[in-house]
Amino acid sequence: MREVLKITNLSKSYGRIKAVRELSLTVFHGQVLGLLGPNGSGKTTTLSMILDVVKADAGQYEWFGGVPVTMARKRIGTLLEKPNFYPYLSAVKNLEITCRIKEKGENRINDVLKQVGLFQRRNSKVKGFSTGMKQRLAIAASLVSDPDVLILDEPTNGLDPNGIADIRSLIRDIATNGKTIILASHLLDEVEKVCTDVAVMKNGKLLELRTLRGSELDRVRVIELSAGSEMDLLKILEDQDGLRIIQSLNSMLVVETKKSPQEINRILAEQGIYLTHLRERRKTLEEQFLELTNQ
Ligand SMILES: Nc1ncnc2c1ncn2[C@@H]1O[C@H](COP(=O)(O)OP(=O)(O)OP(=O)(O)O)[C@@H](O)[C@H]1O
Ligand SMILES: [Mg+2]
Repeated sequence: MREVLKITNLSKSYGRIKAVRELSLTVFHGQVLGLLGPNGSGKTTTLSMILDVVKADAGQYEWFGGVPVTMARKRIGTLLEKPNFYPYLSAVKNLEITCRIKEKGENRINDVLKQVGLFQRRNSKVKGFSTGMKQRLAIAASLVSDPDVLILDEPTNGLDPNGIADIRSLIRDIATNGKTIILASHLLDEVEKVCTDVAVMKNGKLLELRTLRGSELDRVRVIELSAGSEMDLLKILEDQDGLRIIQSLNSMLVVETKKSPQEINRILAEQGIYLTHLRERRKTLEEQFLELTNQ
């Protein structure tokens, strides 16, 4: 897989606050990487450093295998926290300015305005745009130069539920067109819905990096079960090797195991236990996240 970004031991302090501590991470072509962490965990600081907006105290980062940052920047579309537009200019005029700054042609402006659902309002002044419309325009601005990489910091901030759903499906569309995306969010649900990989941050540190789509997750199965008597079920399952009970809720057990559901069903039936519910599912990101932060 092609490396898009390689971060090595990147650190940044603000006075006594260690905003980012020795962060190392590699992003590959086609990934949608979620930087997930609570408020103040260092996500925006990390993005600012790799875009050369904030200077790192220590460590390095390398774009596209070592392209100088000024060159790399032309291949990166960004949406950082507060998008700035000229309020008295229209959406189209603002995007024309973006194109000039990026030194790219203006031929994509109408397409991206359609993509983000602002085409009808393309000639309205940005001053009169709602928060959600400004956010859409910001995404349009990040896309207009047809970048290879998109960096989005909390892209659904301030949007209504429809806007959130629209932007998320837009991000997924962009990803299927082969772009690499790095997205910072404090919303688990958002990362789970949009990303292929997740980097969990806390207090400036990278706690864990894992894939959400790959085979790695599929190796350990999560199976839900229930039967008439939970006690009998528990007794038998507790004796099984390579099986861990992760939750017991309202007479339903959730177990983590490498055994197949068929195998578990057979073992239980042999002991005279017949299941009323048996379902295999992916481990939710919430379960993974709780595991991590409880460690
Ligand atoms: N310009 C600054 N001056 C002083 N401290 C800062 C500055 N920028 C960030 N920090 C501090 O660095 C830490 C990390 O902040 P950062 O904005 O990177 O977090 P974040 O993960 O993006 O949070 P959020 O989810 O709230 O956007 C916080 O403790 C913050 O107060
Ligand atoms: Mg932030």
